[in-house]
Amino acid sequence: MRRLRANPQLRELFRETEINPRDLVLPIFVDEGASDFVDIKSMPGVRRIPEAKLAQEVERYARAGLRSVMTFGISHHKDSHGSDTLNPDGLVARMSRIIKDAVPEMVVMSDTCFCEYTDHGHCGILHGDTVDNDSTVQNLGKQAVIAARAGADIIAPSAAMDGQVAAIRSALDAAGFHDTPVMAYSTKFASGLYGPFRDAAGSTLKGDRKTYQMDPMNRREAIRESLIDEAEGADALMVKPAGAYLDIIRDLREVTRLPIGAYQVSGEYAMIKFAAQAGAIDERRVVQETLGAIKRAGADMIFTYFAMDVLNNPY
Ligand code: PBG
Ligand code: ZN
Repeated sequence: MRRLRANPQLRELFRETEINPRDLVLPIFVDEGASDFVDIKSMPGVRRIPEAKLAQEVERYARAGLRSVMTFGISHHKDSHGSDTLNPDGLVARMSRIIKDAVPEMVVMSDTCFCEYTDHGHCGILHGDTVDNDSTVQNLGKQAVIAARAGADIIAPSAAMDGQVAAIRSALDAAGFHDTPVMAYSTKFASGLYGPFRDAAGSTLKGDRKTYQMDPMNRREAIRESLIDEAEGADALMVKPAGAYLDIIRDLREVTRLPIGAYQVSGEYAMIKFAAQAGAIDERRVVQETLGAIKRAGADMIFTYFAMDVLNNPY
């Protein structure tokens, strides 16, 4: 086997998997109340973007070659229903509008959920101490239309409610957005790896999301979840988190012809960053290895907080 490994040229000639910067999506956090960038302690190198500086920030991303972003809002208008997301001038709408005005060719994926906009931090409307599925799904459809009207290119529902893709598809169609795709967070696990995100997004959640997100131990159910979203009309599927779920990405690749995204989540980012800061690993190598492994498993797109690092210093 060593004949094909003798030097860098040969190794690159025989390399089977490449990380293509065009396949990377950068998730961003936009704070409607902050006057300047705010460091996120649990995610070294990631900052909340003040809304007033969003336009110039995405112009900077575009100059570096970034093609797509996923928007998350940090709301100062939280209530029990997350009603700011349904306001045509609310933060969800403004993020898409600002980005599309600044950089029309930037692909904007609007994360479609309520948890950053509810005072209780759950991903929908509470009924007693659980999230009510069907009223939440109705509102997800409304939020999707608000985002599409504001210019979002892709609707990305992450609330993990049953029937959310079908409801969003019919709401978009009814409002004339036949051409707006739905990129479903179709297999979303109730993961401990979301910890830093909740810090980043200013989550107020007490408790957990185990009645709507999946048990990490379930492989068959993971495929079922994604195939249901496909049947409901999803245009692309997603596995989240990514690195600890490569088997799921591969299983899914073998049963669907839809594009698959994989989300290297905040905790995966933090583990690499803090280990590198402690001198335990080489960050650049480990980023290449983890993103490459996600591709090798079968993902077409990768959502990663390392997107700008890769663009600024490609492999
Ligand atoms: C919730 C949502 C989560 C993430 C994105 N949207 C997780 C959660 O709070 O359950 C996680 C992203 C990350 O950890 O990077 N709708
Ligand atoms: Zn949510």
